[in-house]
Amino acid sequence: MGGIGDIGVSNFNIQHLQLLKHSPPKWNQFEISPFLQRRELVNYCHRQGIQIVAHSPLVKGQKLDTPELITIANNCGCTPAQLLLAWSVHRGFVTIPCSSKREHLQANLDTKEIMLPTEVMQQLDGFEESYATHPQHC
Ligand SMILES: NC(=O)c1ccc[n+]([C@@H]2O[C@H](COP(=O)([O-])OP(=O)(O)OC[C@H]3O[C@@H](n4cnc5c(N)ncnc54)[C@H](OP(=O)(O)O)[C@@H]3O)[C@@H](O)[C@H]2O)c1
Repeated sequence: MGGIGDIGVSNFNIQHLQLLKHSPPKWNQFEISPFLQRRELVNYCHRQGIQIVAHSPLVKGQKLDTPELITIANNCGCTPAQLLLAWSVHRGFVTIPCSSKREHLQANLDTKEIMLPTEVMQQLDGFEESYATHPQHC
């Protein structure tokens, strides 16, 4: 008979996770992007060894026309969407963008080839504005 392997959770905040501190989940999926960095929650997950899964890493496309993001993307030779995904991957998140277009799916896959220097990561960290596309229960 098979058993349960790993259990993950979604949209859990620190208070939720503290209830599970003796048996932490393998991963926690929540919205995270340069525009919503959830640093306390990220640090808590790291301390507990919980893998972060980043949903809505493209901010549902709502921030792709941000001028500063476009400038940095141009300098890096990628698109704003790829830049957001590269930031997420560089932070160590399992990132799950969604697209209905073949060319976007390919561009998103190509993100894994993009190396971002520390100064670019720092620039992107400066985009924090607690901008959420979903109501934040956590
Ligand atoms: N656990 C939860 O509560 C929760 C909540 C929300 C979402 N999710 C999951 O998170 C995943 C993705 O989230 P999401 O769909 O909310 O948001 P997202 O991935 O941040 O954004 C999707 C939007 O980005 C556009 N896009 C994708 N690739 C692009 C590219 N290369 N260039 C330009 N635009 C691009 C898509 O348009 P096109 O279709 O035109 O490419 C679509 O409008 C899904 O698997 C979803 O199930 C989980």
